[in-house]
Amino acid sequence: MRASISILQVLKKTAQTGEKITGPALAGELGITRAAIWKKISRLRLEGYKIEAGRSGYRLIESPDLSAEELELLLPGRKIIYKKELSSTNDLALSICVNSALHGITDPRGVIIVADSQSGGKGRLGRKWLSPPGVNIYLSVILKTGLSPESAPLLPLAAGLASALALKAQTGLDVRLKWPNDLLAGGKKLGGILLELRSDPDRILFAVVGIGINVNTRKKDFPKALAHTATSILAETKTPANRAALIAAVVKELEHWARRLEEEKGKSALLTAYRSLAETLGREIRIHTEGKTYEGVATGVDHEGRLIMRSGAKTMHFSTGDVLMVRERKKPA
Ligand code: BTN
Repeated sequence: MRASISILQVLKKTAQTGEKITGPALAGELGITRAAIWKKISRLRLEGYKIEAGRSGYRLIESPDLSAEELELLLPGRKIIYKKELSSTNDLALSICVNSALHGITDPRGVIIVADSQSGGKGRLGRKWLSPPGVNIYLSVILKTGLSPESAPLLPLAAGLASALALKAQTGLDVRLKWPNDLLAGGKKLGGILLELRSDPDRILFAVVGIGINVNTRKKDFPKALAHTATSILAETKTPANRAALIAAVVKELEHWARRLEEEKGKSALLTAYRSLAETLGREIRIHTEGKTYEGVATGVDHEGRLIMRSGAKTMHFSTGDVLMVRERKKPA
């Protein structure tokens, strides 16, 4: 654990009661010199912490909503890489998977990468993912999984479900899923997931789950092209959310469902939970896949995670594709 985290823990604890803590008391508690305390306080300030310092001691006034320190406090025991700017968190994760030693990492499994902004954020199907600084979540998790490649199609659903459940629990928002794993709120896109896998014939070598969530983007700050289709937690709830707390909740939920996927019972629990949040089901849809477009009614998600669509007398199963929900859900007669 980094010493600055210990200092932060002490500062957070004392701030709860509105108290100040003196330099000698801090130095005594952490077993370091007062000069070292001052250095750490300066570093925390650079990270965005507001710390009052006076004759009677130090007091933490405000913490940033995202920093390496906040993430480490909320996700103890994990290897976390936090960067102010990256090309893409998924690209760094993939590079770590391919050559972990180059990044000074012994075991890439479980590594969490977070950026405040991305210059080359990637979306599904070769699209770009807009990644401005200071407002949203750009997260990649290298999953620990012993899953066989046949079960791989369930991973995107698990990542979508985990994100939706975590966001719902943290913000109260009714987050839904558009197959396979778009996060929706109020019918608009709140976030998306890009899963990048490398497998050999009988096992998944590594799975990088990349999650982008619009958190504190104001309605008026979305580019015109996205104004009617995208939303954020702030736009839906009118309340800014703490990004570190959301990331911690998403990561824990994702770790939980990745573990559950390794047993049969867990797989059916995942599918049941997924179907209950799937906005796509029962809707008339248009699905674009491998250069072709099909239309019909989405009737279910099969045990392999594929979307089932009825089109006239035909039933089709899709393992990949871009879904457009054409009409409102039919009201039961
Ligand atoms: C989508 O198209 O819906 C998926 C978007 C995934 C974006 C996230 S942001 C963090 C991670 N890094 C990337 O470059 N992409 C994913």
